[in-house]
Amino acid sequence: KKVVLAYSGGLDTSIILKWLQETYDCEVVTFTADLGQGEELEPARKKAEMFGIKDIRIEDLREEFVRDFVFPMFRANAVYEGVYLLGTSIARPLIAKRLIEIAQETGADAISHGATGKGNDQVRFELTANALDPAIKVIAPWREWDLRSRTALLAYAEANQIPIAKDKRGEAPFSVDANLLHTSSEGMVLEDPAVPAPDYVAQRTVNPEDAPDQAEIITIGYEKGDPVSVNGVKLSPANLLTKLNELGGKHGIGRLDLVENRFVGMKSRGLYETPGGTIMLVAHRGIESITLDRGEAHLKDELMPKYAELIYNGFWFAPEREMLQALIDKSQQYVTGEVTLKLYKGSASVIARTSPYSLYSMDLVTFEEGAVAYDHKDAEGFIRLNGLRLKTYAARNKKAAS
Ligand code: ARG
Ligand code: SIN
Repeated sequence: KKVVLAYSGGLDTSIILKWLQETYDCEVVTFTADLGQGEELEPARKKAEMFGIKDIRIEDLREEFVRDFVFPMFRANAVYEGVYLLGTSIARPLIAKRLIEIAQETGADAISHGATGKGNDQVRFELTANALDPAIKVIAPWREWDLRSRTALLAYAEANQIPIAKDKRGEAPFSVDANLLHTSSEGMVLEDPAVPAPDYVAQRTVNPEDAPDQAEIITIGYEKGDPVSVNGVKLSPANLLTKLNELGGKHGIGRLDLVENRFVGMKSRGLYETPGGTIMLVAHRGIESITLDRGEAHLKDELMPKYAELIYNGFWFAPEREMLQALIDKSQQYVTGEVTLKLYKGSASVIARTSPYSLYSMDLVTFEEGAVAYDHKDAEGFIRLNGLRLKTYAARNKKAAS
């Protein structure tokens, strides 16, 4: 028996590692991914070695994460429930995909993850596993074991010589998930949505009021819907997002305090920081504003909430997400050009945009005389026909009221 475990090196997944070895008497392969969470990965190797793990996989997935998951999602301007940029939701399918691939390579029968039985993450991991290889089982220790409290967990760690960091001895103040796109914090001291979050929750952005008094102007270059450069410097996907995170963090951009609806039925309150992603969303809408036809733009906007919900609910590798992606990608073929933004105390605003494929016609829109293609006289009939049913409706109402 062999199990591939998504291993962060932290206390919870270390307990899971030990628990798997004991409960299933299996060989465990650990998988630790760098998704840009900004943590050292070597300590995870050391710890895995301590547990006698022979096959330790540590991978830098930052480029794949941004190129194949984050960028395609941003082509859709995806936001869940109006504001959430899906930073955790979009990372889970990639982690689960690698778990499955490693299971296939090593001939493992199962994969395992550290998500609890109450959240979205378990759903995302497991739906991905189901979609990619139905023969591989999923072990979710949080749903199986009887370690029902933090105290029980710590006792288990102690009994099994699992090192507990000093700050983890008491109740950790909240649960954090981070990657190149965002940092999310939820639970414990953040659980009551009536209570404002303490300042120390923020990890990668300054308070907008503490941001520089001087605005910063930046230009982002786009090719076929994806950002490719910042201030004229070409950057790889992960490097570009890293750069935008720096800029956004410095200007206090991308903070969010949200009560959202989890797929499993309850509401939860989360604090999010998505500095670079927030800039990308504004910039992408800026370049689309001159390069997409109205029909394309409006259809995308209608489908977006559906697409975002699929990602939130864990259906990245589902046929309907792929169908929508094909439609979205098709719309991006001329989304090329440059957007200039102003970053200032928590906000990112478009101040200029250009494209070799612009649909914007100064000649058509000008207040001056121009444009042979547009005849003012046409507008008269256009309004008359559109107004016809409104006149009919109003007349009926008037008659009915008298
Ligand atoms: N509520 C967010 C989501 O479902 C963030 C989840 C954070 N996950 C975590 N393990 N702390 O996408
Ligand atoms: C968890 O329950 O493991 C984190 C929160 C979530 O998945 O929604």
